Amino acid sequence: MNDAIDQVMAVMDAAFEPAFGEAWNRKQVLDVLALPGTYLLLAGTHGGEPADGAEVVGFALSRAVLGEEELLLLAVHPKHRGRGLGTVLLERFVAAARAHGSARLFLEMRDGNSAETLYRRQGFTSIGLRRHYYRRGAAGPFDAITFALDC
Ligand SMILES: CC(C)(COP(=O)(O)OP(=O)(O)OC[C@H]1O[C@@H](n2cnc3c(N)ncnc32)[C@H](O)[C@@H]1OP(=O)(O)O)[C@@H](O)C(=O)NCCC(=O)NCCS
Repeated sequence: MNDAIDQVMAVMDAAFEPAFGEAWNRKQVLDVLALPGTYLLLAGTHGGEPADGAEVVGFALSRAVLGEEELLLLAVHPKHRGRGLGTVLLERFVAAARAHGSARLFLEMRDGNSAETLYRRQGFTSIGLRRHYYRRGAAGPFDAITFALDC
């Protein structure tokens, strides 16, 4: 498990622009993973679960609560972007949520993040806006758009 967290943190630190303040630190990741219903999906170089000891190049962190599920983080290492890995991870998240019996999926995205294309393509629609939700980055604050998908 520690190895997986090390790999997730390496992707996290490379994937998120510090100026936007979206990345989580190791403690935040460990604390949320200790909550019931929270799980990590890891992506190897082909997007699927990496074989034992293989490189982790992306991840999704999600939490299922009472028939709903929230995608907390989605990231692909910059060296591996633009090859569909983010799409595969998102599809795996939706499939996992359906398998858990979740009826509705949510995610928050910084307004202006180009990941919006990815989410809309998967069928997510925007349902709300949280003003100045991302405050930790030097470039902010930024609004968050809430997206939802009915399973
Ligand atoms: C969002 C992210 C996971 C996408 O990963 P990816 O492996 O490049 O995704 P895909 O190859 O499946 O691309 C899907 C589409 O998303 C869009 N897209 C996503 N991120 C993009 C970026 N940084 N720049 C340009 N387009 C981007 C593109 O339209 C792309 O489609 P296209 O290749 O047909 O043009 C990755 O860019 C990332 O880790 N970003 C930083 C973390 C982040 O912002 N996560 C989302 C909010 S939690």
